[in-house]
Amino acid sequence: MIALASDHIGLPLKEELKKLLDEMQLDYHDYGTCTTERIDYPIYGARAARAVADGVCDRGIIICGTGVGISLAANKIHGIRCVVCSDCYSAVLSRQHNNTNMLALGARVVGVDLAKMIAKMWLAAEFEGGRHQRRIDQIAALEQGMGIE
Ligand code: RB5
Repeated sequence: MIALASDHIGLPLKEELKKLLDEMQLDYHDYGTCTTERIDYPIYGARAARAVADGVCDRGIIICGTGVGISLAANKIHGIRCVVCSDCYSAVLSRQHNNTNMLALGARVVGVDLAKMIAKMWLAAEFEGGRHQRRIDQIAALEQGMGIE
């Protein structure tokens, strides 16, 4: 299950991504927003992030104007590793090396076709584990307020 969320600016791109997920036969849940009324992105980013952190959803894709604000909000939820990116290479490497569980896109940054390509490649990429797991563990320790040196 993929958690989706956006602010009012990201809403049209979120609808396009639903078509991609339908094509990929992946289930999704839309955590809003669902109208063009101006709203605050942290609320919706956090809703999707909590769904991923709680295991209700496997991964999440969230969208605002730049992808920055909503990714910052999502990354405040324990267990979330959200990457904001506008290129396929970073998207794939963020899965392979950083085990990102959320992807943030900027609706004012990337076109629809590029956004779909980034999302598709991010969804298909897998975490490689190995030496990268130690670093993920270090990030988790930082999140718990622990020292890592
Ligand atoms: C909303 O105006 C805008 O700030 C938001 O979509 C996003 O770009 C924030 O990072």
